[in-house]
Amino acid sequence: MSSVDIEAIKNQLGLEINAVNSSQGLEELRIKYLGRKGLISQLTGMIPGLPQEERAAFGQKANALKNKTLSLIEEKQRSLGQVSAVEEFSGLDIGLPAIVQDLGRLHPLTQIIDEICAVFVRLGFSVVEGPEIETEYNNFTGLNIPLEHPSRDAFDTFYLKPSNNTNDQRPTTSDRLLLRSHTSPVQIRAMKSQKPPLAVVVPGRVYRPDAVDASHSFMFHQIEGFMVDKGIRFSDLKGVLEAFAKAVFGEDIKMRFRPHFFPFTEPSAEVDISCIICKGKGCSVCGRKGWLEVLGAGMIHPNVFKHVGYNAREYTGFAFGMGVERIAMLKYGINDIRLFFENDLRFLRQF
Ligand code: PHE
Repeated sequence: MSSVDIEAIKNQLGLEINAVNSSQGLEELRIKYLGRKGLISQLTGMIPGLPQEERAAFGQKANALKNKTLSLIEEKQRSLGQVSAVEEFSGLDIGLPAIVQDLGRLHPLTQIIDEICAVFVRLGFSVVEGPEIETEYNNFTGLNIPLEHPSRDAFDTFYLKPSNNTNDQRPTTSDRLLLRSHTSPVQIRAMKSQKPPLAVVVPGRVYRPDAVDASHSFMFHQIEGFMVDKGIRFSDLKGVLEAFAKAVFGEDIKMRFRPHFFPFTEPSAEVDISCIICKGKGCSVCGRKGWLEVLGAGMIHPNVFKHVGYNAREYTGFAFGMGVERIAMLKYGINDIRLFFENDLRFLRQF
C-alpha cells in the first residue's frame, strides 16, 4: 500500500458516505473505516514495515485521512438528525428564567365547604352527598312539608318532568321531579338507607327561582347536618353548633337561638352569631342588631322519623342547615353573592 492507496480510500469514503441514508448505515461505515480492524488502522499498522524515509509522510497522510473520516461522519450524523445527547445539551442555558406554571387554586366556596365539613368530621360526622334532581317526596312530603305549603309552589321551586320512581310510598298522587330547594332531602335518603346512630353532614347545591341580586341567586350552596341516636337532646345541637361557630369565626363568637318554625323540626330555631364586624355593638352589616343569622336548626320532627321508618319513641335527633355563600360573605366581608359565580379572577385570586 502507498500514498496512492490512501487517495483511493479517501475517494471511496467520499462516495460511500454520500450514499449513507440511515444511522445504522453510518455506523457500519464508521466500523469499516475507523474500527479496530478498519481500513485506517490497517494503514497505520503498515507504518513499521515501511522504509524509514517514507514513514513520517505516510503517517501524516493516514492521520489526515482519519481526521477527515471523523469529521465527515460527524457531519453526516448531524444531517441525519443524529446529534448526540451531549451535543444537544450543550445548547442548554440553565440561566434562562423558568416557565412559571400557574397552579390555580380551589374556589372560595369549595374552600369554605371543605373547612366547615372538616370541623364536623373532627366531631365524628361523615360527609354524604345527594342528587340535585330530587323527588317531590324527598324534598317536601317526607320532610313533613304539607301540600299547601308555599315553598311547594312553582314560584319557589323548579319543577322538572314527572318521575317514574315507584319506590316512593308517598301519600300524594303527584310524583314530580324537581331541582332540590334545600339539602334536607338527603336526611330522608340517609335515614332510609342507614339505621341509627347516624351523624352526617351534606354539602351541595340547591336551587330556587329567585331573581338574582346582591344577596340572592337561583343556585347556591347549603350544608345540612343531622345526628340521630337514643337520647340526643337540644343541648347536643347547641354544643355541636357552638364548636362549629368557634372553629369558623373564632373563639370569642357568641351564639343565640331564636324560636322559629320549620315543618321538619320541632322545636325549631334560627341561629345567630354575634356580629363579627362590630362584636355585637351594632353596625351596618348586622343592621344595628349586633347579631347575624347563620342557620336554621331544630329537633327532627317525629313525622320525619315515621316517613323513614325510624321509631320516634326510641330515637331522637337534631338537624341544621346553613347557606354556604352567606357564611363565606360574613367571614370574608363580601357584599355581593354574584361575585362567587362570575369567574372574575381579580376576585378569585384573593382566596
Ligand atoms: N332546610 C332549611 C332551609 O333550607 C334549613 C334547615 C335544615 C332548618 C335543617 C332546620 C333543620 O331553610
